[in-house]
Amino acid sequence: MTSKPLFRVLSPAPGTDAQADATIQIWFNDQPLSVPGGRSVAAALLAAGVQRFRATPVSGAPRAPYCMMGACFECLVEIDGMPSRQSCLVTVQDGMRIHSQEGARDLPPLSDLNPVENAHGR
Ligand code: FES
Repeated sequence: MTSKPLFRVLSPAPGTDAQADATIQIWFNDQPLSVPGGRSVAAALLAAGVQRFRATPVSGAPRAPYCMMGACFECLVEIDGMPSRQSCLVTVQDGMRIHSQEGARDLPPLSDLNPVENAHGR
């Protein structure tokens, strides 16, 4: 879900690489989005108007980035198939496929578990 962005993209600072800020194409929940490059996934999604990044495992309440520095974990999303990525700490890349993280993550299949790590025979 996107809406009117809460943030606006600033012009590149003088002397910085303006090419890094060029618009790139990503996918969020299977919808194409054009976002500014050269910043974190969280900043790019916020600039595109994304307001719901994940839902809590217990109540399903919507969450979005809060601290933007890796402390709060409110920005967790699935990036290119890998769940629980802190989107504020990952640089956005052209072609990324990002999904909101809804509820708790699944555990890997039992066959993928290392027997040493599965000492309790889960
Ligand atoms: S916004 Fe707080 S950890 Fe990413």
